[in-house]
Amino acid sequence: MKIHHVGYLAKNIEKTEKKFLELGYTVERETSYDSIRDINIEFLVNGDYRIELIQPMSENSPMYPLLKHFRNAPYHFCYEVDDIEAAIKELEDKRYTVIQEPDIAPCIDGKRVVFLNNISMGIVELVEF
Ligand code: NI
Repeated sequence: MKIHHVGYLAKNIEKTEKKFLELGYTVERETSYDSIRDINIEFLVNGDYRIELIQPMSENSPMYPLLKHFRNAPYHFCYEVDDIEAAIKELEDKRYTVIQEPDIAPCIDGKRVVFLNNISMGIVELVEF
């Protein structure tokens, strides 16, 4: 599966962005707010690599516990799929469990995304193109 981005948690997205820019990353999409998940998101690129910075904006964000657990760190790979339902079924057969049902991602042009977890893999995101 082709990687779309690596999701990177940030306690303070501006401070973390600055550290990435220092290493030669450039801003692909400026910070925007995802009201479904109560997070700020920004996309950075470095060659073929795309990083998604994610800052939970309150303790009510479903991503807040992840920030508490991982701190400033990468925590998911997102893969591009043609058919999100078919891809979910395929991964469920491989012992992945859906942890956030398919929903639109306002910061990725409203494309549908889903999050799954596997005990040996951790969190995986799928985005439907
Ligand atoms: Ni993501």
